[in-house]
Amino acid sequence: MVDVTLNVNGRSYRVRVEPRRTLADTLRDDCGLTGTHLGCEHGVCGACTILVDGQPVRSCLMFAVQCEGMELRTVEGLADGEQLHPIQQAFWENHGLQCGFCTPGFLMLAVGFLEENPDPNDGELRAVLSSNLCRCTGYQNIVKAVRQAAIAMRR
Ligand code: FES
Ligand code: FES
Repeated sequence: MVDVTLNVNGRSYRVRVEPRRTLADTLRDDCGLTGTHLGCEHGVCGACTILVDGQPVRSCLMFAVQCEGMELRTVEGLADGEQLHPIQQAFWENHGLQCGFCTPGFLMLAVGFLEENPDPNDGELRAVLSSNLCRCTGYQNIVKAVRQAAIAMRR
């Protein structure tokens, strides 16, 4: 077992984990941050996407022991109290989710992308979003939501 300190959403979590324990399992089971979802557990679906030092990463493909000293952001860190993040607001207003299982991964993917590329064209936006899987929405409303969030985040 290895002691690791994870910095998640500006808070420190001291955890003791086996070296083989994934970041996704550690966030959910050891830190109690169950907003990060696991769909496939082998890097295909993107449901487990979080930001690691600002970059969208599939947390089922990282080990917790790799993340000491890194800045992690999960879906729990998006809202500011009762105030939704623009990406959350946009998903709500555009009906960007149905069952919502894929949503945390899409939100974190989109935030990481828009923070790096605030004014994407449609092709760039669709290319990035195609890396995550949604079984419910047909993607149109997700694309609309991220377009709206891009405008809101530029203000
Ligand atoms: S659970 Fe990580 S990509 Fe599917
Ligand atoms: S909203 Fe159900 S999987 Fe995407």
